[in-house]
Amino acid sequence: MTHFNRNFDNKIVLITGGTSGIGLETARQFVAQGAQVIVTGVTVQRLDEARQELGEKALVLVADLRKPESLDAVISEISERFGRLDVVFANAGAGTASPLEAVTEAQINEQFALNFNGTFFTVQKAAPLLSKGASVILTTSFLNSVGTPGLSILSATKAAVRSLARTLGAELAPRGIRVNAVSPGPISTPFHGKLGLSDAQLKEVAAGIEASVPLGRFGEAGEVTKAVLFLASDQASFITGDEIVVDGGLSQF
Ligand SMILES: NC(=O)c1ccc[n+]([C@@H]2O[C@H](COP(=O)([O-])OP(=O)(O)OC[C@H]3O[C@@H](n4cnc5c(N)ncnc54)[C@H](OP(=O)(O)O)[C@@H]3O)[C@@H](O)[C@H]2O)c1
Repeated sequence: MTHFNRNFDNKIVLITGGTSGIGLETARQFVAQGAQVIVTGVTVQRLDEARQELGEKALVLVADLRKPESLDAVISEISERFGRLDVVFANAGAGTASPLEAVTEAQINEQFALNFNGTFFTVQKAAPLLSKGASVILTTSFLNSVGTPGLSILSATKAAVRSLARTLGAELAPRGIRVNAVSPGPISTPFHGKLGLSDAQLKEVAAGIEASVPLGRFGEAGEVTKAVLFLASDQASFITGDEIVVDGGLSQF
């Protein structure tokens, strides 16, 4: 007999950046476990594909998180349709690789606008809808604790997000709401193709990563999803302000 796991039956789950990679895989798993999911993204084609794949248990909406006001329509639609949120996975993010001498002010503003401001305003705007016992999970990165040449700004945005899990966790604890972070290591998703590197540079970086990850490979999106589902669930009922690093040991040894 097939065993269906329905751990998130009737839970209302918002996932930003849920049209690709880690966010999309997490949306699939929440839907499979009974949740009603609201997914956001920006690229029309990926929004359409996610809508088709996830079906009626997912509401797929456009929201460019570099403009926090674009979240207002998402939050009011959730409020009207569902009246509350039980899980928020603030996951949308991207990075640009650039050595010290080449970093521009525009690159800094762009990466902070999405990775930090976008994450912060997702939680701020979702907060009035969060139910007692709700769980918020922020996507940071193993980069928040290691120094990698060419990734100074991306890493700083992710360190700032790691800090948010603590401060927002402290602010929301009186309402019984937990705030935690997941820190992916190198995960096979379209993320790396968006770093602004050439194919040759990407190949070199990928080989270097495989050589330096103690477990000897890239991770899969689903391996991050498992940590997200754990933090979202009652299994993690006494865990807040914390971080689960899913990086094959890269930042630990
Ligand atoms: N993959 C890794 O190795 C890795 C490592 C550490 C941390 N992370 C973090 O994990 C998270 C998910 O990344 P991923 O690997 O799954 O990458 P991905 O496949 O590129 O997915 C990124 C998601 O963010 C969305 N997004 C991009 N720009 C946005 C914007 N301006 N406003 C709203 N949404 C936007 C994308 O939407 P569109 O598809 O419509 O652009 C997509 O849904 C990110 O925060 C990333 O920094 C990834």
